[in-house]
Amino acid sequence: MSYLMENRDEDLRLAIKTDPDVVKRQAAWAGIGPGMRVLDVGCGSGITTAALADLVGQNGHVVGLDASEERLAIAQEKFSAPNISFVLHDIRKPYRSPILFDAIWARFILEYFRKEQRDVVANSITSLRIGGIACLIDTDNHSLGHHGENERVIATIEDIVKRLERDHNFDPYAGRKLYSHLHALGFTNIACMIEPHHLIYDQLNEKDAYNWVRKLELTARQSGCQFEAYSGEDFAHFATPYEAFAAEFKAYFADPSRFCYTPLMILRGTKALKSIERMKS
Ligand SMILES: C[S@@+](CC[C@H](N)C(=O)[O-])C[C@H]1O[C@@H](n2cnc3c(N)ncnc32)[C@H](O)[C@@H]1O
Repeated sequence: MSYLMENRDEDLRLAIKTDPDVVKRQAAWAGIGPGMRVLDVGCGSGITTAALADLVGQNGHVVGLDASEERLAIAQEKFSAPNISFVLHDIRKPYRSPILFDAIWARFILEYFRKEQRDVVANSITSLRIGGIACLIDTDNHSLGHHGENERVIATIEDIVKRLERDHNFDPYAGRKLYSHLHALGFTNIACMIEPHHLIYDQLNEKDAYNWVRKLELTARQSGCQFEAYSGEDFAHFATPYEAFAAEFKAYFADPSRFCYTPLMILRGTKALKSIERMKS
């Protein structure tokens, strides 16, 4: 598996950015509730799985799927419970279970599969019962909603995101495509909610500072960006053009005059009989 955000501290990044109460609120909006069997697609280190298990209660069950043995081991250690199971599985393949699910939940997953998004959704609903719920959640315009004094930083971020999209199977526009996946797969009762994933102005809080700087450190160099705008004499005191960009980004980001936002699209739909035919086509 090649996962763009892979690094040895990924469980820490996920822990810092995940609020279990937000997961429960979004899942309840989608119709997930007590007694349900839920599939958590790409569950990471299990925080979302545990939140969903809280929602479905002791009479329900949540199965968390992920392809990372490391994150699943952490999940098992931290969140093991009678109503939770974790399974090692590559979601690019159908997940077949002897017990059908009442709901599937896939959050911050499809953006890493620009080319295979529709297949990942189809694979995930293989064991969803007719009448069951799919809840898909992803960002839109990912990292592209910046406005501030430093145009060089913003242009470089745009260059990085373009390269991640072109060369690393990342989809900065995954959010706007979620409806089309459910529609094409024959889902009914589709509903959409949009809320801010990031909304940053004025003073920067610690959580946003960590999350964004970490994201940048993990992706900026991998993207293949050459940081040409940072190779002139003005930046000669930095070890590399990347270091110059990283310093300028941190200054821009800490400046209370900048404004940044990323919308989050939350889609839910109900699997219909016609979904089975659509999954085959
Ligand atoms: C950004 S995390 C999302 C975690 C969780 N869904 C959440 O809402 O916080 C993406 C997860 O997808 C997993 N992943 C990436 N590629 C995968 C694949 N091919 N099969 C299964 N899981 C995969 C990663 O290991 C990672 O844990």
